Amino acid sequence: MSRIAFVNGQYRDIRDASVNIEDRGYQFADGVYEVCEVRGGKVVDLPRHMTRLQRSLKELRIAMPMPLSSLEVVIHEVMRRNRVTYGLVYLQITRGVARRDHAFPLRPVRPAIVITARSLSFDKNQETASRGIGVITIRENRWPRVDIKSIALLPNVLAKQQARESGAYEAWFVDGEGYVTEGASSNAWIVTDDGKIVTRSADTGILAGVTRAVLMDTIASLQMHFEERPFTPDEAYKAAEAFVTASSQIVMPVVTIDNRPVADGKPGSVAKRLREQFHRFSAFS
Ligand code: PDD
Repeated sequence: MSRIAFVNGQYRDIRDASVNIEDRGYQFADGVYEVCEVRGGKVVDLPRHMTRLQRSLKELRIAMPMPLSSLEVVIHEVMRRNRVTYGLVYLQITRGVARRDHAFPLRPVRPAIVITARSLSFDKNQETASRGIGVITIRENRWPRVDIKSIALLPNVLAKQQARESGAYEAWFVDGEGYVTEGASSNAWIVTDDGKIVTRSADTGILAGVTRAVLMDTIASLQMHFEERPFTPDEAYKAAEAFVTASSQIVMPVVTIDNRPVADGKPGSVAKRLREQFHRFSAFS
């Protein structure tokens, strides 16, 4: 079955789909994106993703290319045409096409939009979660506006590659004060010996993850203990558990950090429970 993408108003076979070489996304990474989980043929927490998308666009002064309601219809249509019942939807909006010049185009151009969807293996994802993943820590080297979900991801790409070459799956950035900010494509969490679930505040240094926000609701509803504060790699090495959150992984246990086992080196019970409970607290559309 050929894969179908929505590209600037048309549904195209991915092999024939193309964008202009003077698209500012291509030349300047001048654009934003969202990744949503698809489960049971529905999009998980779409309203929260749309709210964040609108915020990212506003921060970069890029106009929304179509009304939100139409965008949601297109997202579902791309899922349907690709027969995705479990997987991911990817949505990208760039400032549009203009002759190369760093400043915004003098005359407004139409933002460019691409939406794709792909199936993932549920079993494979569960298997990864039952084993857990390794993370490495690296020095934070991103721009400070990581609150904007921009497609400028070069430091994240290099961090992920470094993780892969070290036999790990994710890299945690560590800021100048020695605290973990977040992963290359996820938020970072630990569980302390006395059962407190800890993650950094979304005020600075991280993307406000949708999964992070829904998990905070999950933790509150299950009356588990939550603490919003930064932590160091040293504290994480000695933690009872660690995990990452992202729409592509939900709650993914971390079993090694810089090659040191977290506790007994197996996924912890808190992460397992949160992973199991998460979707009770998410919205499906
Ligand atoms: N990444 N932090 C960063 C830097 C991310 O790239 C992501 C998600 C998150 C988690 O956000 P959310 O829970 O809303 O997915 C945090 C997506 C999955 C990606 O780039 O593929």
